[in-house]
Order: sequence, then C-alpha cells, then structure tokens
Amino acid sequence: MNCKITGKLLSPIHSFGKMPMANNFIENEKDFEKEYFFNLEFSFNEEISLFQINEYPDAKNFFNEKYPFFTGLSKYMVNHFEKYYNSLNKKNLFNKNSFVLEIGSNDGSFLKNFQKNNIKCLGVDPSKSASDKAKNVGLQIIDDFFNVQTAKKIFNKFGKVDLIVSANAICHIPDLNDLISAIDIVLSEKGSFVFEENYLLEMIKKTSFDQIYNEHIYIFSLIAIDKVFSLYGFKLYDCEPQSTHGGSMRYYICREGAQKVTNRLKIHMQIEIKNKLDKFETYVKFGNDCEILKSKIYKKLKKIKNDNKRIIGYGATAKSTTILNYCEIDNNIIDFIVDTTPEKHWKFSPGKHIQILPYEFFEKDYPEYAYLFAWNHKDEILIKEKKFTSNGGKFISHIDLK
Ligand code: TMP
Repeated sequence: MNCKITGKLLSPIHSFGKMPMANNFIENEKDFEKEYFFNLEFSFNEEISLFQINEYPDAKNFFNEKYPFFTGLSKYMVNHFEKYYNSLNKKNLFNKNSFVLEIGSNDGSFLKNFQKNNIKCLGVDPSKSASDKAKNVGLQIIDDFFNVQTAKKIFNKFGKVDLIVSANAICHIPDLNDLISAIDIVLSEKGSFVFEENYLLEMIKKTSFDQIYNEHIYIFSLIAIDKVFSLYGFKLYDCEPQSTHGGSMRYYICREGAQKVTNRLKIHMQIEIKNKLDKFETYVKFGNDCEILKSKIYKKLKKIKNDNKRIIGYGATAKSTTILNYCEIDNNIIDFIVDTTPEKHWKFSPGKHIQILPYEFFEKDYPEYAYLFAWNHKDEILIKEKKFTSNGGKFISHIDLK
C-alpha cells in the first residue's frame, strides 16, 4: 500500500486475518454468504510516524443511510460534548459572531451545544441515518464526505470559518492530503482546527487491538499529527488527553505562527518519544502482544464454557468485530450480544454471526459472564449494572487480561 502523503510503499507489520466491515450488521441469514471480507493488517510509516491499516473498503459502503452508530445514545458522550464545547469557549476559540464547522457531526450531539448558545454552525456527515437525527433538531447538515469539493461549496456559501471541530472522524478519512487542503480552503487565518481521536499511546499500552478496524484507517499520535500538518503550513500547538473511547487525545491545530506552542504539548511529545512511538520496533512488539492476548482471551473463554457457564456479549460495538473475528469467537462461546441501539437489534454480528438482541434480554436472565465489548464505556456501564455484579455476574474483557 502506498502512503497517500509520502508516496512510500508500506510493508505490513501484523495481520489480524480476514475481517468483515465492523458495523456491517447483517439482517438476513441468507446474506451471510455475500459478506465482504478484507485483510486487516497494519503498518507504520517511519517518515511521518503514522500508524495505519493497509487495506480498507471504500467508505461509501458503510458511511451511508444505514450507518448504525449514534453518539447521543451514550449519556456520558453527550456530557463529554458539553464539556468539549465549554473548553473551546473558555479558550476563546470562537465568539458570538463566529461560524463553526464540524467534520463528522453524526446525530448532532456536539453541535447542539453551539446551537443552544446561538452560535452559527454547520455539520458535514455522509451517514444519513445519523445526520437525519441532527436535522430533526434543526441543525444545518451537509450529507457528504468532507473533502476539497465540499469545502469549496461551504466556502462559496458561508465564507471562512473561525473554528473547525471534530471528534472520532478524522481517522476515518484516508486521504489526509485532501483533508488538509480542504481545511486550508475554509479555515480563517487565525482560526483553529480542533479534533480528538483514539490515542495511539493508549492503544499500545493497553494492547487494545480492537481499536483497529476498517473505519479507523489511522491511529494518531502527537508526533504523527505534528509531522503531517507541518507539511502543509499548519502547526500543532496544544493537546489535551481525554478519557473517552478508552483513551483519546485532543489536537489543536492552527496556521503556522498563529498560536504559541504550549508547554503541555512539549511534555506530551516527550512522553511519546520516551515510549518510542516514532520507532518501527514498537509496532512489531505491539503485533506480538496482540497474538499473546488473543490466545489468553480464547483460553479464558474456553475455560468458562468448560465450566458450563453462560457468556453473553455486552455492546455490539464496532470494536467487537475485530475481537470476535481475530480471536475466533463464535456462537459456541457467546450466546448473543445485547445492545441499546434499536437499529442493531435482531441482526447478526459481522463475520461470526452472533445475534444482537435488545438490552432487556440481559436483565431478563442474567448470565454468569458478560464480555464487555463496550469496555470504553465501563464507568457508565458499571454504575448501571450494579444488580448484575452484586448478584455475582462478572464482566470480562481483554483489557483486564493484559
Ligand atoms: P462505541 O464503543 O463505538 O461507542 O459503541 C458503543 C456501543 O455499545 C453502541 O452500539 C451502544 C452500545 N452500548 C450499550 O449497549 N449499552 C451501554 O450502556 C452503552 C454505553 C453502549
């Protein structure tokens, strides 16, 4: 695979084998045969310190009217976006006359905060299932991918924007060259681009290999973001670690010279260097750690089954697709998966075809074990599930097996 920025040919470091598309929950058993698989493997571009997957299906196949992920279903995330808004406000990154743009606005959970405070805003998202929900609450949304073409349309209609925000969407965009060119078109001279994503250092530390799936083309680090944006006259000037999605990082970007680089950024960059995030060998070790963890997970689940105990899956997350398919976990191990998203109910998990049931099936008849596929929402879930755990029920996940 050629890197779209440096043109360098990247050789794979580790493969998770044949993988289906993460959010491709299947409605009919007769469609199992038609399922699309690709080789999920990662590589590391040493020139720009960028961790990426090598092969990925075209995003039009999954970011469309069927996309089943809605931010607003998690109270914790809704709360997180209110705090994100307040933090940008405190930093004076926008004012009452500003125009704010969100890349990957999903159901509008973030933009609602700007709307509530009468700040003009616009979302861009190709997943119509989610953007329809945003439009229903009166938000202005363009149902499309954010790229140079869309940016030109936005610029022609609204002019430059003071602030571009994003959360968990930039890693979905394969062509970073096009993304940054699009930002260049719409961002004002003094404006900031602020986005947050799953953080590479957290993934390496936790061996949370399930962060890797077709929608996450990149897992970013500060070093990588700094190098990539510098190529286009932009500058990473601040960062802020976040606890969301199992450990994320918020990146603050401006045009070269528009803002002062913070001490906090310098400190976190040093931590990354100490942890060798810029070294190829780190990712070879990570691949080996994934293999070790895979075998631990399988053994743990097999032992529970041999003891005649029941295991269900908690949260039909996109991440669970990598766990189930890489670790060869099927219906003989996990009876079913419960999820609170109606759009996923009665469908089958990608690849291993475990059925997704409404959440009530969990409460109705507690199993002995629940595999916490939504481990990134652990705090919220443990509070909600006190009855399960106080009755002796146990949550398990690969994160705790590490
Ligand atoms: P995410 O890890 O990509 O945020 O996806 C979370 C999934 O887990 C989503 O399908 C909703 C589901 N979920 C539950 O079923 N119960 C819960 O309490 C939470 C927080 C999420």
